[in-house]
Amino acid sequence: MSFIDWDESYSVGIKLIDKQHQKLFALINAFHDGQQNLEETLQDLLSYIDFHFRTEEHYFDEFSYEDKAKHGQQHHFYEERIHELCKRCLDEKKCDEQVSDETQEFVRDWITHHIKISDKEYTACFQKHGLE
Ligand SMILES: [Fe+2]
Ligand SMILES: [Fe+2]
Repeated sequence: MSFIDWDESYSVGIKLIDKQHQKLFALINAFHDGQQNLEETLQDLLSYIDFHFRTEEHYFDEFSYEDKAKHGQQHHFYEERIHELCKRCLDEKKCDEQVSDETQEFVRDWITHHIKISDKEYTACFQKHGLE
């Protein structure tokens, strides 16, 4: 069984962004289903975060999005958190159950509190500038 399935309730109404968000769901599900180990998953999450957050922030700059500072702070919070999890697992070699649980809760929190709430707040701005 999946950890979390993507459905329309997670859509931000912008195809390119939904596609990137679906990649995050696929990543955490692959870990949950045992197709990827914790080291690989954290490494993937680290590069995914950089790629995905920079995509959103690129459009914030381009469209002069009014909440860009507030949104950027939230991205920063998630980046700090993933760095901390990576440090424990990859640098200190403590890839234990605790880090595994925290990683899954981290992604669940990101999806339910950031994607489902904050990301949806830029939809009107992005659509106004021609993204669909
Ligand atoms: Fe996002
Ligand atoms: Fe975001």
